[in-house]
Amino acid sequence: MKFLVVGGAGYIGSHFVDLARKQNHECVVLDNLSTGHRDSVPSDVEFIEADLMDPPALKEALNKYKPDAVFHFAACSLVGESVKEPRKYYINNVEGLRNLLDEMRSYDSDLPLIFSSTCAVFGEPTKLPLSEDDVKRPISPYGRSKLMAEFVIEDYAKAYGMKAMALRYFNACGASLDGHIGECHDPETHLIPNVMKAIKAGKIMNIFGNDFPTKDGTCVRDYIHVYDLSQAHIDAAIVLTKEKKAHFDAIHLGTGNGYSNLEIVTTIAKVMEVELEINFTERREGDPPALYANNEKAKKILNFNPKYSDLETIIKSAFSWHESHPDGYNS
Ligand code: UFG
Repeated sequence: MKFLVVGGAGYIGSHFVDLARKQNHECVVLDNLSTGHRDSVPSDVEFIEADLMDPPALKEALNKYKPDAVFHFAACSLVGESVKEPRKYYINNVEGLRNLLDEMRSYDSDLPLIFSSTCAVFGEPTKLPLSEDDVKRPISPYGRSKLMAEFVIEDYAKAYGMKAMALRYFNACGASLDGHIGECHDPETHLIPNVMKAIKAGKIMNIFGNDFPTKDGTCVRDYIHVYDLSQAHIDAAIVLTKEKKAHFDAIHLGTGNGYSNLEIVTTIAKVMEVELEINFTERREGDPPALYANNEKAKKILNFNPKYSDLETIIKSAFSWHESHPDGYNS
């Protein structure tokens, strides 16, 4: 199939392109490079530098490349930043998404959209594991913007006969197995890359909070390798293409296993065979104690069967990227 990958130069988008091409799908990447990296897109992949706030560029990309499915990985996704700059989140994540939907609708309302969503739409969960229909009370502008985007997609699907899926990620992690692409954020706020950086720099690893109501007092998260996320997107496109009528669904992508921050940090040190000093600091604002997925719906609809999300593969692939790219894509 031919895929238009909006946000294909970002962390998850670039791994999606890598996996889709290995499975003989053709990809065209559209990215504004605000957080993405040009070097994460292979030189033989068609690249359009454009923004979701530029409808003529979206129209041109659809008309020129005639994709079979569109993937939206192009959101702003930092919870802390969203609290300080909500405007940026509502413009890009809601307005930008609506621009894309409008152009898709006028191009061909049958064209499937696979949208990156997040478990941040739930806020503090009322029960675990999180199922798709559980109560949603997002607590950050980021989570709210993603929930709004889901509502916009659902309403467009219903009214204009469009076909779409919102895939709600839990904690995306890992890198390509050979380490040629990986996680590269500035600033880096995520747990696993921060452990890698602490090991490399010989620094103390700070864990935010050890007084949560969890097994060891540190937060619990559900880690899912970016290749497993990517495979689910490809499968979602195939399912939607076969769909005869308007369709919207939201599906959770997680393993269903929760690991505590302390377990993650100590497992990384063990797998890497290093001594790592740990320091427990204050809680980070807005961190829910535990988040992990009920993935029964993903198994049923997408045949979801994570192959790369064991901690060893996650850690070794992430380490291989950080080892070979100490300065990220500037290395
Ligand atoms: N953490 C540390 N030290 C660090 C970095 C993180 O202790 O240096 C902790 C965090 O406080 C949290 C856990 O590690 O308890 C995981 O933090 P991440 O930043 O790696 O991931 P989050 O669970 O906060 O974020 C993920 C996605 C977001 C999404 C959010 C929903 O990356 O996009 O889940 O809650 F919004």
